[in-house]
Amino acid sequence: PIKLIIDTDPGVDDSMAILAAFNSPEVEIVGLTSIYGNVPTSMATRNAITLCALAGRVDVPVVEGSHKSLRGAAKERIADFVHGSDGFGNTNPQLAEGEPAPGSAAEFIVQQASKHPGEVVVLALAALTNVALALHLDPTLPEKLNRVVVLGGAFQVNGNVNPAAEANIFGDPDAANVVFSKLPNCWVVGLDVTHQCLMTTEQINGMAGRGAHGTFLRDITQFYLDYHRGVYGMEAVYMHDATALAAVVRPDLFEWHAGAVLVVADGPAKGRTIRDEGKKRWVGANEWQGLPAVKVALGVRGSEVVEWVLDR
Ligand code: BDR
Ligand code: CA
Repeated sequence: PIKLIIDTDPGVDDSMAILAAFNSPEVEIVGLTSIYGNVPTSMATRNAITLCALAGRVDVPVVEGSHKSLRGAAKERIADFVHGSDGFGNTNPQLAEGEPAPGSAAEFIVQQASKHPGEVVVLALAALTNVALALHLDPTLPEKLNRVVVLGGAFQVNGNVNPAAEANIFGDPDAANVVFSKLPNCWVVGLDVTHQCLMTTEQINGMAGRGAHGTFLRDITQFYLDYHRGVYGMEAVYMHDATALAAVVRPDLFEWHAGAVLVVADGPAKGRTIRDEGKKRWVGANEWQGLPAVKVALGVRGSEVVEWVLDR
């Protein structure tokens, strides 16, 4: 199985991805690392511990990540209006009591990649700060990691924080630039495809009683569904993070386009992801020279991805 570290800010769609991963024989979760975004980092840690307990997997370490973006700014935007102030759609479930494992998320990523060279996949479901810090800690990390699969970005569509930016990239655009410019094997799943992976109200409610965690997921998703009703006027939710899990296990369901990617770091387009389409040999575009080709998902068989996730 694929050795997987899930870097996460649970979060309703993170919870779907994590519980689906625990039910996927193709992956072995070696640990969860926490990061701010939908909730502050300490709450992300507690929620990740709770999800492990729910899955009956208290043996899986949860390691706490950064509380701040690379620039050191305290998190500007917590998405409680999307995920509830508890990250679980305001259902306030009983939280598990276990302790996080010692050390930092970045140290854990480096340790695991060094212990299993070429085998570890990082599934990054929130701001990329922890992954960027790991790359600072160990410059040889790119050769040791199997790949990083990022849920983030908006290439040919509007963002979701504002017309430019998707939330995870917006959370730490500098970290995203570190990741996209240093990793030779980076796969990016953004809104271009997650906005084609819709879980309908009927499918959400149909999860109840299905499998061990269906009812929990049905319950926590109601607040997230209300947000989608109000903001997008639809009877469905975008299944962002679980789509990225599907990309780890079933990359064949996606259409991948390789090209250098950089992120706008400031101004009104802060967090915008831009991909070089590779149609031109640039002259004098210095920041864009020598960058690795990031694999960006621009097409997806959306209903098959949703069925795959529901199955898990
Ligand atoms: C991403 O932002 C977070 O709110 C979600 O969990 C997902 O990872 C979508 O933009
Ligand atoms: Ca997330």
